[in-house]
Amino acid sequence: MARKKPDPAAAEAPSPLARLLGSLPCPEGLLAVRVGEQTDLVAATAMWVSYDPVILAVYLRPGSTAHRLVVEARHFTFNVADESQNEAALKAGSIRGADDKKLAKVGLAFEPGSVPSPRVAGAAASYDCRVLKIAACGDHDLFLGLVRESSVRDGGRPVVRFGGASHRIGDALPGPAVRYPH
Ligand SMILES: Cc1cc2nc3c(=O)[nH]c(=O)nc-3n(C[C@H](O)[C@H](O)[C@H](O)COP(=O)(O)O)c2cc1C
Repeated sequence: MARKKPDPAAAEAPSPLARLLGSLPCPEGLLAVRVGEQTDLVAATAMWVSYDPVILAVYLRPGSTAHRLVVEARHFTFNVADESQNEAALKAGSIRGADDKKLAKVGLAFEPGSVPSPRVAGAAASYDCRVLKIAACGDHDLFLGLVRESSVRDGGRPVVRFGGASHRIGDALPGPAVRYPH
C-alpha cells in the first residue's frame, strides 16, 4: 500500500495548546539567578501583581535548574529583553539541561544589581527581586518577586512574545490616556 506523504504545512501547524498560549502577548525576559558559583540564565515571562509594594510574578517549571536555584537563593533578577538581545534570549530559552558553556553560548554580559543574582547588561529594564512567596500551581510554580531596585533603560526596545514568535512593539493606538498605576 502506498504511504501517504506527510503534509509539511500540517507538520508546522501549531498545536491547539500552542495556539491558545500564543494568543496572549507577554513580555520576553531573561531571568538570572546566582547561588555561590552557579549562575543560570533562562528565557521567562513576567507580569505585575502589585504596585505598592512593586511585586512581579514569574512561573518556573519544577525540575528546571532555574527553579532549583531560585528556591535555594530566594532572589533573582528579571530583565526585559531588548530587541538587540532577542537571539540571545531565545538561545537562553532553548539550551536544556546542564551545559557548562550555556552562559558563553548565550553571550550576554552581566552587571551587579542590589541582590546577589546579577542583572543582564543592556536589558530594556531590570528588576532585582527577593522571593516573597512560592505557590505550586499546575505544571509550573508561581514565584512572587518583591522588587527591591530596578532600572529602566532610556531608549530600550522591549520584546514581546505573541503567536509563538518574538515581536517588537508597534505604534500606540488612539484612545484616552490611562496611566499606571490604575
Ligand atoms: C520565549 C521563551 C519563554 C520561556 N518562558 C519560560 C517561563 O516563563 N518559565 C519557565 O519555566 N521556562 C520558560 N522557558 C524555558 C526556559 O527558558 C529554559 O529553557 C528552561 O528553564 C530550561 O530548563 P532546564 O534547566 O531543565 O534545562 C521559556 C523559553 C522560551 C524560549
